[in-house]
Amino acid sequence: MPRSALFEPIKIRSLSLNNRIAIAPMCQYSAVDGCMNDWHLVHLGGLSLSGAAMLTIEATAVVPEGRITYADLGLWNDRTYSSMSLVVESIRRWSSMPIGIQLSHAGRKGSTEVPWKGGRQLPPTDGLGWQTLAPSRIPYRQEMVAPLPLDRQQMKNVRDGFAAAAIRAARLGLDFVQIDVAHGYLLHQFLSPLTNRRDDEYGGSLNNRMRYPLEVLDVVRSAFPAQKPVSVRLSATDWFEGGWQEEQSLAFAYELQKRGCDVIDVSSGGLHPDQKMALEPSYPVPFARALKSVVQIPIVAVGLITDFDQAEAIIGTGDADMIALARAILFDPRWPWHAAAHLGGKVRAPLQYLRSEPIRFRGILEPDFRIDVSSL
Ligand SMILES: Cc1cc2nc3c(=O)[nH]c(=O)nc-3n(C[C@H](O)[C@H](O)[C@H](O)COP(=O)(O)O)c2cc1C
Repeated sequence: MPRSALFEPIKIRSLSLNNRIAIAPMCQYSAVDGCMNDWHLVHLGGLSLSGAAMLTIEATAVVPEGRITYADLGLWNDRTYSSMSLVVESIRRWSSMPIGIQLSHAGRKGSTEVPWKGGRQLPPTDGLGWQTLAPSRIPYRQEMVAPLPLDRQQMKNVRDGFAAAAIRAARLGLDFVQIDVAHGYLLHQFLSPLTNRRDDEYGGSLNNRMRYPLEVLDVVRSAFPAQKPVSVRLSATDWFEGGWQEEQSLAFAYELQKRGCDVIDVSSGGLHPDQKMALEPSYPVPFARALKSVVQIPIVAVGLITDFDQAEAIIGTGDADMIALARAILFDPRWPWHAAAHLGGKVRAPLQYLRSEPIRFRGILEPDFRIDVSSL
């Protein structure tokens, strides 16, 4: 069998990855006061045995009002830090998979109910809600309570929150951080002309709209260890006329690379409720290909990648350097094992599971040497 492109190793800054499969951040809406608990251990622990190259902890708010819901994770104080440290240390005992975290601020999309209770906006008068903040006073939907425009001091607080969270992520020993500039959350709200109507130097021209997200990248980059990667997740387009478009993403990507971003994860949409999204398999791949034409740093494609041959083709053709999986790996947490069996790759597996290897796939499982049951 020819060598699989999906199972070729890749190095990002000093981070060596075994293959090209990333686990995308996925909100669990299961935190209390921003703190992780045993759900996060079970959920992330399971994914850490999946054979993927890297695991990204869900959108984690850098300040309490940066959450999407009251049950989102945070990394804004010692309590949130300690709860995450217990989970990360447990996972590290049993898996060598690199772990990173997505740092986020929801902006005007915050203060909502958890999805399985309908996800509606909770007004500031609700005990579980708060007043949202955004670049401009424009609600996500007309009927919602409008966000308050961030003033300079509030922008500084949020920027400091990103830096402080990056320092905590470094203290946790996390291998990378991802800054969330996608899906209509705060930093994306600064980029898009649909949500940014500011008349100061953070609004108007493209350079002005990019200014704040780039400042956040600068503070995160200098707060996080120099040898470890900082990634940015962006939405390549708003899928809405008059919004953020692909050409602007190319200009933004160029700036990101110049300012020390090591990898760009390209998603799309999430800013406008009436977006016209072309939801077909591999829909982000043309955006990934376009970004690769303007930057040299690795590009990760994400969105409706479900099939092993589809993933192999995306990497094999060079359209993207990595793929990220969300729903497919929740549905099948051994997706990378099955992909390795199908494509002739190898994945790391816990010693305890090595006997599971079917005879016809002999040799796909490699022991994860971090796991040493003799020391228990
Ligand atoms: C349960 C769930 C939670 C998600 N949470 C996040 C998140 O925390 N941050 C983020 O950037 N995207 C989040 N997403 C989006 C995914 O990371 C991914 O970009 C999207 O689902 C498309 O990939 P897929 O087709 O492989 O699911 C979430 C998706 C799902 C299904």
